Amino acid sequence: MRSLGMSLVGVYTLLSIGCSKTETRNPAEGDRHSTEQILPANLEDDREGPYAVFLARILEEAEIPQEDARHIQEVAREGPAFLMDLLSVLEGDPCIRVLVDKEHALAAEYEPEDLVDLTHGSYQVSRPGLRLRKAAEMALEEMAAAARADGVILTVSSTYRSYAYQETVYTRNVRELGQETADKESARPGHSQHQLGLVVDFGSIDDAFAETKAGRWLEEQASFFGWSLSYPQGYEGLTGYRWECWHYRYVGRELTYFMDTYFNGIQQYALRFIYQWEKAWGL
Ligand code: DAL
Ligand code: ZN
Repeated sequence: MRSLGMSLVGVYTLLSIGCSKTETRNPAEGDRHSTEQILPANLEDDREGPYAVFLARILEEAEIPQEDARHIQEVAREGPAFLMDLLSVLEGDPCIRVLVDKEHALAAEYEPEDLVDLTHGSYQVSRPGLRLRKAAEMALEEMAAAARADGVILTVSSTYRSYAYQETVYTRNVRELGQETADKESARPGHSQHQLGLVVDFGSIDDAFAETKAGRWLEEQASFFGWSLSYPQGYEGLTGYRWECWHYRYVGRELTYFMDTYFNGIQQYALRFIYQWEKAWGL
């Protein structure tokens, strides 16, 4: 059994190889093993013990705001709920939780293997040729059916983008808007969540979408169906991107629950925490 000290020196490879290759390992086995190793028999007696110290370190490395970090530390002392909720996230597909942001890129050759065409389901599509990973398409259909039952039609405008396609999008934005503005609107190739095949841009892809029926419905309901707003209003400094009321990433219900419960629904904080946690364990 590895000691905590040994585990902290883990080598991280996730982003350099792209999340496709991480699917060859068994995340559930590795993560359960590591989590049990540091969980003390009595959490309340462990205020200064390895688990508390480890958690504090991960929260600091992930640069979680102090108020959220304190709340997480308190919850973690009261019982195993935090760890159990984290474990249920770690048991899933690693690509679902992979951090793709300004600093962390997917490999250029990464392309999901299970992309499916979006045919007209309960949602509408703005053009042919849109594709998502199978799990995301199924979750989209479930959400769109619920929206339709509430009298709301969800229109899908953009989905999977290859590395090469994102390159053309980004280059066009730089040409039209200039580098500085483009970098707030558009991800550089490899840095777009769209390459995961787990993202949908809904509706008009502009600020006006927030005030439409669909925009308001998504803001209230998407999280319940496992969809998370990636670039929320007021967090431009954190994400590096302007508010995008239309850009939702499918992360699954376990992860939206984890985000909402411990990170105020802020995807960037939750994914950064998970990233640092896995890095520390060498996963
Ligand atoms: N507009 C988002 C940031 C993207 O290009 O992926
Ligand atoms: Zn988008």
